[in-house]
Amino acid sequence: MDMKKKLFIGGEWVEGSSYKDLLSPYDREVVAQIPSATEKETEQAVVSAFKARKELGKLPAHQRAEILDNVSRLLEERREEAARLISQEAAKPIQTARTEVARSIMTYKFASEEARRIKNEMINMDAAPGGEGRIAYAVREPAGVVAAITPFNFPMNLVAHKLGPAIAAGNPVILKPASQTPLSAYFIAEIFEKAGLPKGALNVITGKGSVVGEKLVTDDRISVITFTGSPEVGIALRNKAGLKKMTLELGSNSAVIIDEGVNVEEIADRLVLGSFAYQGQVCISLQRIFVHESLKQEVIDAMKKRTDRLIFGHPLDEATDISALISEDDCSRVLSWIDEAKDRGAEVVCGGTREGNGVLPTILADVPTDSSVSCEEVFGPVVHINSFSDWDQAIIEVNSSDYGLQAGVFTNDMKKAFQAAEDLEVGGVLINDIPTFRVDHMPYGGVKKSGFGREGIKYAIEEMTELKLVSFKK
Ligand code: SIN
Repeated sequence: MDMKKKLFIGGEWVEGSSYKDLLSPYDREVVAQIPSATEKETEQAVVSAFKARKELGKLPAHQRAEILDNVSRLLEERREEAARLISQEAAKPIQTARTEVARSIMTYKFASEEARRIKNEMINMDAAPGGEGRIAYAVREPAGVVAAITPFNFPMNLVAHKLGPAIAAGNPVILKPASQTPLSAYFIAEIFEKAGLPKGALNVITGKGSVVGEKLVTDDRISVITFTGSPEVGIALRNKAGLKKMTLELGSNSAVIIDEGVNVEEIADRLVLGSFAYQGQVCISLQRIFVHESLKQEVIDAMKKRTDRLIFGHPLDEATDISALISEDDCSRVLSWIDEAKDRGAEVVCGGTREGNGVLPTILADVPTDSSVSCEEVFGPVVHINSFSDWDQAIIEVNSSDYGLQAGVFTNDMKKAFQAAEDLEVGGVLINDIPTFRVDHMPYGGVKKSGFGREGIKYAIEEMTELKLVSFKK
């Protein structure tokens, strides 16, 4: 791999005017040197994307579909290389990184398919008095330049969730990947270049939020912001974005409810996966378990048994289940939140301590719901198990969160399942599954502090297009 990366602007690889070392989160070794775009380089990216708008907007759907199909195929050809890159820069265990690449291949495939079926609509104008004698339709047109600001946790697939629909809809993109995981973004730019994307239709620039992010969110030539990250940054972007369209995916403290009578042995593997996959650094990581009191001890025992078997190690080691957290600050924050819960009477079932640059998978029980590990987004390998006796109270507990991304419900009672589906204040309810479930074509996004707008290619295309009405008077 070329250690010194270049910015990708207007279809050219451009040397940066200054560089920063990228460190592996696992051992803090230098992995690469990453350019920091200046205001001038950001302006160049905006100019080139704005210029590409016309050409890309006029490209027929079948050609946009073909480019995305090529991306999917080229990524498939380099899938192992892509997985190793993710693993290295994000400290994502290699097996999990491979799953992310497989999903990204699928996401671009969905984007290719959706490019072909963007829906235009006939409007029955004569449904209103005065509308007679007209034939009308509404077409979906590209909204304009999309600024995509992506997080570290899925550096390949969450980029795909922004580039895929943007290109499918005919919008050029400026991508600002997370500073911790820029390598996957530059890798996918190489692939787009080979896939036949017109020059300028994709620009990838790394750099400071105060320089790059600030310009992207305030520049009038940008029409859409799609952002995944923290509520603080999301809200700050929204306050500056003026009339731009926006999709904000801002995380959560996702919960599951386990009803009496559920077979714990059948669901325990899913609970552990949902809690600790990629060290809990997933927006829909399972953080809060509310279990009927009759099953509490059984859930604790089943989860502990499985969690004790998880192996902490180097992300590239095939045996590794859990690796480092993304930063030192995150390690200390997560540990201090565990300590706070302990001080307030929570029981530590397992974990709770540091290992290398990570935190061992931690199960807590009986956590006060206003302590940080419960009411904040942990984004680390920590889950807590609290019990309930009354079903309605469990729903209230889940809804008492500021967040509302996805929630899971395990129950054998259809009536309770439908009630939960109706009453839970979230963007997605997963009956008989964990909230961590996601396939890439389903609508995905939240309510409350989890943000607004939806990913899932078809839905993201709606966010990135404008409806234009055309009416013919006879
Ligand atoms: C996220 O962390 O927002 C994405 C989760 C996923 O795609 O599985």
